[in-house]
Amino acid sequence: DAGKAWSGRFSEPVSDLVKRYTASVFFDQRMALQDIRGSLAHARMLARQNIISAADLAAIESGMAQVKSEIESGSFHWNLDDEDVHLNIEKRLTALVGDAGKRLHTGRSRNDQVATDIRLWLRDTIDTIDGLLAAYIRALLDLAEQHAATPLPGFTHLQVAQPVTFGHHLLAYVEMARRDRERMMDARKRVNRLPLGSAALAGTTFPIDRESVARELGFEGVCENSLDAVSDRDFAIEFLAAASLVMVHVSRFSEELILWMSPRVGFIDIADRFCTGSSIMPQKKNPDVPELARGKSGRVFGHLMGLLTLMKGQPLAYNKDNQEDKEPLFDTADTLVDTLRIFADMVPGITVKPEAMAAALKQGYATATDLADYLVKKGLPFRDAHEAVALAVRAAEQRGCDLPDFSLAELQAFSPLIGEDVFAVLTVAGSLAARNHIGGTAPEQVRATIARRRKELGPG
Ligand code: ARG
Repeated sequence: DAGKAWSGRFSEPVSDLVKRYTASVFFDQRMALQDIRGSLAHARMLARQNIISAADLAAIESGMAQVKSEIESGSFHWNLDDEDVHLNIEKRLTALVGDAGKRLHTGRSRNDQVATDIRLWLRDTIDTIDGLLAAYIRALLDLAEQHAATPLPGFTHLQVAQPVTFGHHLLAYVEMARRDRERMMDARKRVNRLPLGSAALAGTTFPIDRESVARELGFEGVCENSLDAVSDRDFAIEFLAAASLVMVHVSRFSEELILWMSPRVGFIDIADRFCTGSSIMPQKKNPDVPELARGKSGRVFGHLMGLLTLMKGQPLAYNKDNQEDKEPLFDTADTLVDTLRIFADMVPGITVKPEAMAAALKQGYATATDLADYLVKKGLPFRDAHEAVALAVRAAEQRGCDLPDFSLAELQAFSPLIGEDVFAVLTVAGSLAARNHIGGTAPEQVRATIARRRKELGPG
C-alpha cells in the first residue's frame, strides 16, 4: 500500500480515530455510480482534447466497467483508508489498469468531483420524488372522485364552520402537492449545472471543454464561477426547503387522518395494514403511519436547519465542512421517498363513513352563513342579516335543535323577509351546490377540478 493519495507531503499517518472522523466512504459510497459516470465523461473529454491518449481512455473505460460491476454485485471492497467514494474508486481503477488510472484525475479535484456527484445524485432523486408526488396526487384524485358529493363539516378553529364535500377537502391536498412538484422542478434547474472543470477552486491550466462534459452528463449548462461551483451547496438547501414543505403538507394531512380516525370523530377508517395495535390494550388500532409521518417531518426540518448552519460561516472556497452535507441530504431523500410511497398506497385504503360526517354536520349550525346570504339576497344589509341569524342560532341552541327544525313562522320572527323557499337553502346539499364557482365546494366544481388535474397529470 503506497499510503493515501495525498500522503507524500506528510511525515506521520493519521490516528485511527482521525481516520474514522474524517472519512466519508461509509455514506458517500451511495454516489458511486454517479462518481463513475462523472469520471467517464471527464476522461472522454480529456481524450478528445488530447490531454490523455486514446489508449489511456480505453483502459479507463474498461477498468471502470469492471469497478462498476464489482460495486453492483457487492464484491467491491470499500476501504476506510481511502477516505471517500472518489479515492476508493480511483484506487481500484489504478490497481486494475495502472498508469491510465493515475491520469484520470488530470485537471480535476475532488472538490469539483464531489459537487458533480451530488448534483447528479440529487437530480435523479428529485425525479423519483416528482414521480411519487404524482402517484400520491392520483390516489387523492381517485378518492376525491368517489366523494365529490359527500358532505363533510368544514372546520375553522376546529369547530364546525360550513359544509364542504370530502372530495373538495382532499383536493386542497392535491393543490399543495402540485406546488410541491413545482418547487422540486424549480430547484432542479439550479441543481442541474455542471461544477466539473472548476478543479480545486481556481479552474485548471489544461485546455478542457466543459460544455461537452455538461452535455454528456445531461446538465443544462456549466457553473460559471469556479469558487462558487466547488463551495456552495445552496442547491441542496433549496431541495431540503422544498422537501420540508412536502413534509409540512403530509404532516397536516396526517393530523387530519388521525383526528378523523379517532373513535370520538369516526369519519374514516384506515386499512389494518397501515395501523398497529397495543401490546396492553386489546381494543386499540392506532394510526401509526400518519403519526410517524407527522413525526418524521421534524427530522427533515432539522436537516434543513443543519445545512443552512453548515453553510453560513464558510469562507470561499471548499472547506471540509461540506462533507457533512451528505447524510442530511440522503436521510431527507429516504424519508420523503418512503413517506410518499406509503401515502400513495394508504390513500386508497381509507374507508369513508358518510353517516358520521353527516351527523357531525347537524351539530354546528353549518348552514347559518347560507341563511345570512339568503337574507342579503332578499335585500337586507349583510351586517343586519348576520345579527338576525345569530339570534336564530341562539334560540336554536336554547331549544337544542338545528336551524331547519324551526317552523316558517318561528323563522319569520327573526326576519319577516324569510319565506317558504328558505328550507332549500338550509339543507346541506343546497349549501354545497350553491358554491358553484372555481375553487368552490359544489360537487360540480369538484368533478371539474378533478378532470383538469387528471388532464395535466396525463395518462398514468
Ligand atoms: N469527501 C469529500 C466531501 O465529501 C470530498 C472532497 C474532499 N476534498 C478535499 N480537499 N478534502 O466533500
